[in-house]
Amino acid sequence: MYLSEAAEGIIPTTLWADGAEFGHNQDGIRELRALEVGDFPTPKPEKLISKVVSLATNPNDLVLDSFAGSGTTGAVAHKMGRRWIMVELGEHCHTHIISRLKKVIDGEDQGGISKAVDWQGGGGFRYYRLAPTLIVNDRWGNPVINPEYNAAQLAEALAKLEGFIYAPSETCWWQHGHSSERDFLFVTTQNLSAEQLQALSDEVGSNQSLLICCAAFRGVTAAQASQRWPNLTLKKIPKMVLARCEWGHDDYSLNVANLPMAAPQPPSLTPALSPQVGRGRKTADAGPDLFGDGEEGKA
Ligand SMILES: C[S@@+](CC[C@H](N)C(=O)[O-])C[C@H]1O[C@@H](n2cnc3c(N)ncnc32)[C@H](O)[C@@H]1O
Repeated sequence: MYLSEAAEGIIPTTLWADGAEFGHNQDGIRELRALEVGDFPTPKPEKLISKVVSLATNPNDLVLDSFAGSGTTGAVAHKMGRRWIMVELGEHCHTHIISRLKKVIDGEDQGGISKAVDWQGGGGFRYYRLAPTLIVNDRWGNPVINPEYNAAQLAEALAKLEGFIYAPSETCWWQHGHSSERDFLFVTTQNLSAEQLQALSDEVGSNQSLLICCAAFRGVTAAQASQRWPNLTLKKIPKMVLARCEWGHDDYSLNVANLPMAAPQPPSLTPALSPQVGRGRKTADAGPDLFGDGEEGKA
């Protein structure tokens, strides 16, 4: 927090020490116990976080807690009509945060600030598990595809990065995804020869196009390839992934403005792990993006 010169002498505890207004750590512990999600060493009282959220944001703003802990920030932001993103690497993401937010959404959580904001439940959330890094350095320091990725995972990851829908065809071996009815994606870790590229171009035909993500190609330059096979686009995998990432910025332009909405699912299809989502959610298909197809729950 920025303090003016006149305020620099203030001991920070005087700002937030009013237990009646901001609550105590004991309140945080009691609030969490009431939710029966298990204890957490440092839960903040919801009142305190609600003060911070009301000072710094307006309804519908995005609130980020990248060290989510027991999930107080998300719970409070949700009850206050803010959107939120929480990041947590511990197992309490499942034991505490998901259980807690489900109770908030179901309106079951009547503790914390619920009474003050007349919280009745509603809204929803989606949950994503981070994949391992796609690119690692080999022993010479060169970027290579992480060997932990199998072929299907790699194709799925590149489909997402390139804006394709991952949908491997059961009948056509080179169709790993599509961006339209006639535009397809093929991912391979091979070094493709000019003969292989010619064969692919023949199969694709003149009415369709194919983006080929491969480790390398030989016997032809990129410029020659684009002239010779206008229905093919060639990209080399480590390079194309690296080109999509941002490096060394203080301010990363993560685009969270166009999150796709959850697709409607009948309850029987709800994934077991679904941390799910609550009532009254509007659905629409906004297409793939960075957050394209996380685990999500029923509408
Ligand atoms: C002090 S707690 C957070 C408290 C929480 N913000 C609250 O107000 O109740 C810090 C949390 O950050 C998590 N954490 C630490 N390093 C992390 C990382 N690199 N990515 C995500 N979570 C991380 C820890 O597992 C822990 O749950």
